Amino acid sequence: MGDQQTLPADIIGRLFRREPDMLADPYSAYRELREAGPVIRVDGPPQGPPWLNAWHVFDWASASACLRNPRVSSQRQMAAMPLEHFGIDPATPAALFFWRMQAQTMLTMDAPDHTRLRGLSLKAFTPRVVEGMRGEIQSIVDSLLGGVNARGETTFDVMADLAGPLPTMVIARLLGIPADDWAQFKRWSDGLIGFNITQQKIDNFFQLGQFLARRIAERRREPRDDLISGLIAARDRDDALSEDELVGQCVILLVGGHETTTFALGNAIYRLLADVSRWDRLPETAIAPAIEELLRYDSPFQALSRRAAADLDLSGAPIAAGDTVWLWIAAANRDPAAFPDPDIIDLERRDNRHLSFGLGPHYCLGAALARLELQVAVATLRERWPSLRLQSDSVDWKRDGAIRGPSVLPVEAG
Ligand code: HEM
Repeated sequence: MGDQQTLPADIIGRLFRREPDMLADPYSAYRELREAGPVIRVDGPPQGPPWLNAWHVFDWASASACLRNPRVSSQRQMAAMPLEHFGIDPATPAALFFWRMQAQTMLTMDAPDHTRLRGLSLKAFTPRVVEGMRGEIQSIVDSLLGGVNARGETTFDVMADLAGPLPTMVIARLLGIPADDWAQFKRWSDGLIGFNITQQKIDNFFQLGQFLARRIAERRREPRDDLISGLIAARDRDDALSEDELVGQCVILLVGGHETTTFALGNAIYRLLADVSRWDRLPETAIAPAIEELLRYDSPFQALSRRAAADLDLSGAPIAAGDTVWLWIAAANRDPAAFPDPDIIDLERRDNRHLSFGLGPHYCLGAALARLELQVAVATLRERWPSLRLQSDSVDWKRDGAIRGPSVLPVEAG
């Protein structure tokens, strides 16, 4: 214990507080913590911030084992964070809705409820169905980049002009949300994924939920060929989905697929341009493995949380039932035991078993869709602007939320 215990706890606290040097380069800290652990216990006062009184996992083998272990629960994680903890009145309608919904999404459920809920959306996300959306995604990317062209400027912000709007527009089309509502839809879901809960988040979540409930009511009266209508049909046929679950399912698709993809795209383009030889060689590089490598190198989600449902041994760490466990997937992605030369970007890397989409029963439902969006966006950008360059070497990393990526990415179109 003693000094050795204090040091990792201090670094972990700085990672959670998203201090600027930790955002710019969390990877040196991850290396240190993996070597000190790889599984580290941090203790503190019972009412402390979420990283206290928890286990932290930094290597690939332990993180993968945990994600696959049915005795490690996704359902119980929120119980560790009551709203009063964050200075929020739990009795307002918005807070009650937020709290109720936490238990209604597939992300926060365990089997068998999780399996049932996930199964209802699965059909919309198979690789074949997703591949069928290629034309639609291409036309959204073309219209966004056409907008940049039309402004006639030589510089633009990749985040504002492409990476920000693209994923929301894709999910909105999938759900059948009219184009007029896209911007509002995006504003409500911006910043919802985070370590902290704020009143603003609760209010946005409530507004988003009410908006989706109205769209669901409309589709119930007048079904269309979209995912909301499909989910209603599944509910009405099998009585499998409660009204809350229906809203929760739509919310989780938007929240899960929006900022993750935005910042994955921002990270990918940043890394490709940070060494222009990568950008220049891109047409000769197979796009699918290149995107996997960029996802491995900078995972948008840095950590996922779980709670142990039973006592278990994790790489020698005695985890007790009820303990919170943080899985630092961004650190696991740089584990030399799983990836040779993990700090080098090898766009042709094979056997790339990165954890950026998670693993096990909660493996990202939208992974095929996200991959397609990233591939189409990067390839189209490269085709349109072969001499695209970063305007500055320094990056302004997004400070809020739990997702890591550039908040702006100014480039010169050349
Ligand atoms: C590059 C972009 C993306 C990344 C990095 C990402 C990452 C992840 C990760 C790490 C998980 C697992 C969470 C956990 O185990 O606790 C997850 C789950 C999920 N993702 Fe994604 N995601 C992305 C895009 C998308 C998209 C486009 C959608 C849908 C439109 C989506 C929908 C979901 C859903 C519904 C889940 C919950 C699955 C379950 O609990 O069974 N994601 N995602």
